[in-house]
Amino acid sequence: MQEPKYKRVVLKISGEALAGEKEFGIDQDVINSIADEIKEIRECGIDVAVVVGGGNIWRGRNSPQMDRATADYMGMLATVINALALQDALEKRNIETRVQTAIEMKEIAEPYIRRRAMRHLEKGRVVIFAAGTGNPFFSTDTAAALRAAEIEADVILLAKKVDGVYDSDPMKNPNAQKFDSLEYIDILNRGLGVMDSTATSLCMDNKIPIIVFGINKAGNIKKAALGENIGTFVKGG
Ligand code: GTP
Repeated sequence: MQEPKYKRVVLKISGEALAGEKEFGIDQDVINSIADEIKEIRECGIDVAVVVGGGNIWRGRNSPQMDRATADYMGMLATVINALALQDALEKRNIETRVQTAIEMKEIAEPYIRRRAMRHLEKGRVVIFAAGTGNPFFSTDTAAALRAAEIEADVILLAKKVDGVYDSDPMKNPNAQKFDSLEYIDILNRGLGVMDSTATSLCMDNKIPIIVFGINKAGNIKKAALGENIGTFVKGG
């Protein structure tokens, strides 16, 4: 078996990715294939924590008439829906999974407790972090960066609809060029739309590398977790 490069990973799954080809909601086939891949990387002995976005259900920033904080709280609730769907798919595959929410909703899931999350990981459980950071004005990418720093993850696997970081939006510009590797400072200086500046700075300051890759291709999550060259690698320091 291939020796994994990383011992502990944070997998960030964008909400949009969960919608698959649909505009809205959860595509069960997508959830199932993500769960299959998480199972595979767990079986390689890699500790897996997951941060899910909520954009397939609600996008706060697309609601300019709404108070930003309220819109962001609605987005955090959307991530909980996605987290429960992923937990269900993982448990159907006999993967022990714990959901922890940054906003307490004890009837549904555990509250986020760092030491407890670490303990779950040590016991081989997949931990899904939901409700972002629990604060409005912060993205779920920032939640991924924060949780990765807290649980001492080796890398963030940033699963997106696009297959890496480009010098301009590949959805709009057919001549956009993909980077194989980058430094955080380049993302900030060039305003590359891979992560917002808060998340980028947090990763840079804590020297956490990220791998940005496309989720649409089966096998990519495993390749990224094993440290194969896919997508774009953003150096930690
Ligand atoms: P160990 O203590 O390591 O055995 O972990 P554990 O998660 O199995 O222990 P615990 O008895 O705390 O949890 C049992 C089940 O209850 C797990 O599925 C937890 O996710 C769930 N659970 C624990 N705390 C809460 C909570 O505050 N709210 C909800 N809804 N579930 C919880």
